[in-house]
Amino acid sequence: MINVSKLKEGIVIDHILAGHGYKIFQQLGLDLLDGVVVLMRNVDSTKMGKKDLIKIETDLNLDLDVLGLIDPNVTINYVKNGERVNKVSLTPPQTVTGILTCKNPRCITNQEHIHDVKFYLVDAATNQYACEYCDARTRL
Ligand code: CTP
Ligand code: ZN
Repeated sequence: MINVSKLKEGIVIDHILAGHGYKIFQQLGLDLLDGVVVLMRNVDSTKMGKKDLIKIETDLNLDLDVLGLIDPNVTINYVKNGERVNKVSLTPPQTVTGILTCKNPRCITNQEHIHDVKFYLVDAATNQYACEYCDARTRL
């Protein structure tokens, strides 16, 4: 097993569903950071069997809505002076604006290139969202 050391300062995104780590990495734009970022895939987990995990060694304002949208089961651990100081659990956001796009080709948002479309959570179990214009269901 590859050994990745504990953080002194930073953020650990833990309990990511195995296979979702890279998507989260991309959505959060972690490739743009100057600090050290480690994406670990298929790590053994007692709770999940396998999981993905991201360690970020820098101070960063995470978009918790994006994270809750992709994978509401992840945990965010904030580390200071080598100690976990805060642990945040996520819930899928009730509404999201500007992240999802409507999959319905006849929706006005696609005909007229409307941006910042609002979507409403309709099913938290499957992470389904409905378009504010046409009610079509989508998920990230
Ligand atoms: N971690 C880290 N650096 C630290 C502290 C923790 O990289 N200084 C990482 C650990 O390796 C682990 C995650 O943060 O992947 C959470 O660590 P911990 O606080 O020990 O919580 P656990 O009991 O492992 O996790 P949980 O209770 O959330 O299941
Ligand atoms: Zn629509």
